[in-house]
Amino acid sequence: MSVTPYVSQSSPSKPSIVSRIWNAPPTFWLLLSLPAIPMLGGFLTGDYKHVLHPTGEFAARFMIISMMLTPLMMLFPKVHFIRWLMKRRRYIGVAAFAYAMLHVAAFLLKEATLPKILEEILEFKNLLGLAAVLIFLPLALTSNTLSLRALGPMWKFMQRFVYVAALAVLAHWLLVSKDMGAAILHFAPLALLELYRIGRNFKWWSFRFA
Ligand code: HEM
Repeated sequence: MSVTPYVSQSSPSKPSIVSRIWNAPPTFWLLLSLPAIPMLGGFLTGDYKHVLHPTGEFAARFMIISMMLTPLMMLFPKVHFIRWLMKRRRYIGVAAFAYAMLHVAAFLLKEATLPKILEEILEFKNLLGLAAVLIFLPLALTSNTLSLRALGPMWKFMQRFVYVAALAVLAHWLLVSKDMGAAILHFAPLALLELYRIGRNFKWWSFRFA
């Protein structure tokens, strides 16, 4: 008696329509732009003072999230959601830059005249914000795959400047805000994760050269 070998009838599983929509870049862009919707109201009604707060906070939040992903991957390499976010890290960085631009736009519209803008921006606390924006700018402009390929190892070197920007943002936030606790609360998880990363790298180096 001949035995017919078992052949699976199912074709290699195709991602469902839901998973294709969820994983599509426009869906992620849409998610990143959701916090901007209530801010638009402030821009449209000319309430720039109140838009300064959420735009600054979301710029800082997205910067912090994008920086947390590498140490989180080291800690939880198998967690699907962290890997999913890691693949989209450049988008999160660009979103941080976009919210920082909205923040600067709200600042300029609020101050309205050049003498007032210059007077305010030359204050140390605001110069720190400006420094962060000037660091963000080349990072956002070179966040595409073409620049990544063209710049090679220089690209990674440039990305390290985000740590300088983060220190400038933290100092800016601490100095402009009446509620220092919010700044500390936002930066604490990043600080802890960076300590973990430094500790792990240090252990690896001392193990190699012991
Ligand atoms: C030219 C650059 C910048 C200027 C002139 C500027 C200016 C200001 C001003 C005037 C405030 C005070 C708002 C208030 O009175 O409530 C503020 C708050 C803030 N800014 Fe900036 N900023 C700049 C860049 C940035 C950047 C790049 C970030 C983050 C990535 C940022 C994050 C924040 C945060 C988190 C707050 C505190 C919001 C709050 O708690 O009220 N700023 N900024």
